[in-house]
Amino acid sequence: MANTRTSRKVAVVGVGGVGMGCAYSILNQGLVDEMVLIDVAGDKADGEARDLMDGVTYAPENCKVYHGDYSDCKDAQMVIITAGINQKPGQSRLELVGTNAKIMRSIVKEVMGSGFDGNLVIVSNPVDVLTYVAWDESGLPQNRVIGTGTSLDSTRLRMQLSNKTGVDAHDISAYIVGEHGDSEQPLWSQATIGGKPLMDWIEDGDEGVIKKDELEDIRKTVRDAAYYIIDRKKITNWGIGLSTARLVRAILENEHAILTTSAYFNGEYGLKDIYTGIPAIVGENGVERIVEMHITDEEMAGLHKSASELKEVLDSVRE
Ligand code: NAI
Ligand code: 2OP
Repeated sequence: MANTRTSRKVAVVGVGGVGMGCAYSILNQGLVDEMVLIDVAGDKADGEARDLMDGVTYAPENCKVYHGDYSDCKDAQMVIITAGINQKPGQSRLELVGTNAKIMRSIVKEVMGSGFDGNLVIVSNPVDVLTYVAWDESGLPQNRVIGTGTSLDSTRLRMQLSNKTGVDAHDISAYIVGEHGDSEQPLWSQATIGGKPLMDWIEDGDEGVIKKDELEDIRKTVRDAAYYIIDRKKITNWGIGLSTARLVRAILENEHAILTTSAYFNGEYGLKDIYTGIPAIVGENGVERIVEMHITDEEMAGLHKSASELKEVLDSVRE
């Protein structure tokens, strides 16, 4: 049968560790037919594109990877922005906001100037604040500007729960919401292992399952994962590369998948005019809908506290 798939093109802006983690994951999963790499460091982008192209015959699908400029965004279905400074050991994501908000505005201006009319995926930190900045600068509808949010934190949580219980992480559903950062909030009440609520596993004392007082250690391990990795290898890139590729697939294949993206709130959970991490249904138009769950009062308070910290930081870079 003839291949009827329409051509899929993405642009990746920023070819540092994170941009290339995303590009490599996307290529290696055969998600696109064309991928353009853009960076102020043009030679680096050129070298990275050539390097990826050298391996294309071993990727699952053919793909044209090249170094380009913003005019190449015009007919892309998606632009993924990973450009900006990263954290030095001990530095928080929020401390990056001044520099990265300026970089984000300048990039989005160029992308939109090309005539781009697809989905914008924001990865640069602090991702929740920068997703708002990107939306504000772009003039695109809120649903088509999407941050990677707490998708990485949620997979980190699933891995921790898997390590503790010995159950395959693919059979665990667990979400972190709020800031992708220090004030993030786990939703223990919604976590399930094989469909059975985590709290029931704990109450029933099922063999091999975590004890309630271990949840706090897991929360801290997940919250501090980036600090741990940055202390050792200066950056984090592979986890976010795979998380971003998951989001890219959900959008390009119109999956209606539930992912913890940084989505725009319009009254959901009592929050308004903020982007932050929340389980949302994602398809070709970006965020279709935030999923509203019956979370506990404590979880709701944690989400609101996180959102109000983000609002304060956002107010410092509003234009
Ligand atoms: P990096 O320093 O390795 O790469 C950044 C790249 O951005 C460089 O190639 C630089 O030339 C480029 N760049 C800077 N200004 C630019 C501009 N105006 N236009 C085009 N390109 C520009 O940094 P790394 O490690 O790749 O991190 C990138 C961002 O991703 C950081 O903000 C980091 O905190 C964030 N990040 C986000 C994660 C998430 O879960 N959302 C996970 C990991 C990192
Ligand atoms: C991470 O969580 C630093 O945001 C980055 O890996």
